[in-house]
Amino acid sequence: MNRSAQILTEAAGGRIDLAVILGSGLAAASEVFDCYRRLSFDTLPDFPQPAVAGHEGEVALCRVGRLNLALIRGRVHFYEKGDPSAMAPLLSALQEAGVTTLIVTNAAGGVGKDFGPGSLALISDHISFSGKNPLIGVSPVDFVDLTDAYDPKLREHVRDCARALGQRVPEGVYMWFSGPSFETPAEIKAARTLGADLVGMSTVPEAIIARSKNMRVIALSAVVNWAAGMSDADLSHEQTQTVAKTIVQRFVTLLKRVLETWPDDPPNEQTRDGQAA
Ligand code: HPA
Repeated sequence: MNRSAQILTEAAGGRIDLAVILGSGLAAASEVFDCYRRLSFDTLPDFPQPAVAGHEGEVALCRVGRLNLALIRGRVHFYEKGDPSAMAPLLSALQEAGVTTLIVTNAAGGVGKDFGPGSLALISDHISFSGKNPLIGVSPVDFVDLTDAYDPKLREHVRDCARALGQRVPEGVYMWFSGPSFETPAEIKAARTLGADLVGMSTVPEAIIARSKNMRVIALSAVVNWAAGMSDADLSHEQTQTVAKTIVQRFVTLLKRVLETWPDDPPNEQTRDGQAA
């Protein structure tokens, strides 16, 4: 077992079932959960050192319902060093610590008319506009199937939870742009034409890496602005954090319900081959 996985397993007193990567402005969610241990990325050798304000590295270990959970704040983005596999060591360590399901969250720009600022949205599929793939160079070559990259059964569970809470959580296609510049209005027009409802600078590499590790994946976006050219508002990282704050409470309420009423199947039921894990 690698050193980070060993530290996490010891701190968790056993295997961790599920990890949640908290996106920009959603990190506050980790304060709302009743967590029994917090570990700084500094103490985990395989974890990256983030460079962006608001992305401090910490793993909070919590129990919710019957799940042992790791809340991760401080993802690294492709735009920091140009490496789409920057999150691979962290995800490998989580997998070794037992994680079989990954919930990825992000702040995103809204493109589709149902995806205005303040919305919480469920990602149904993605388009990798950056063209980068985190599995390039991995040996042996992994031709991972991304047909159902965002687990249909778990998405249904999230939709059921949203309905029960009376929350509107539309499902849409997320398009990954490399960043760190925001998109141009022309790129957003192209994104819409190509079928995007949401745009953002994260999530896709992590989802691909997680699927190559047989993890089940779901992803949620906090929509913090209309994408470029769709409104008069200026786009900025500060605005992302400010608007995300208005969504955190709804996000936490939904996440809690999703975890507390986790479907009966063990988290590791589905593998890429459809075989029991
Ligand atoms: N584009 C890309 N990433 C984002 C945006 C956006 O409009 N808003 C928040 N993250």
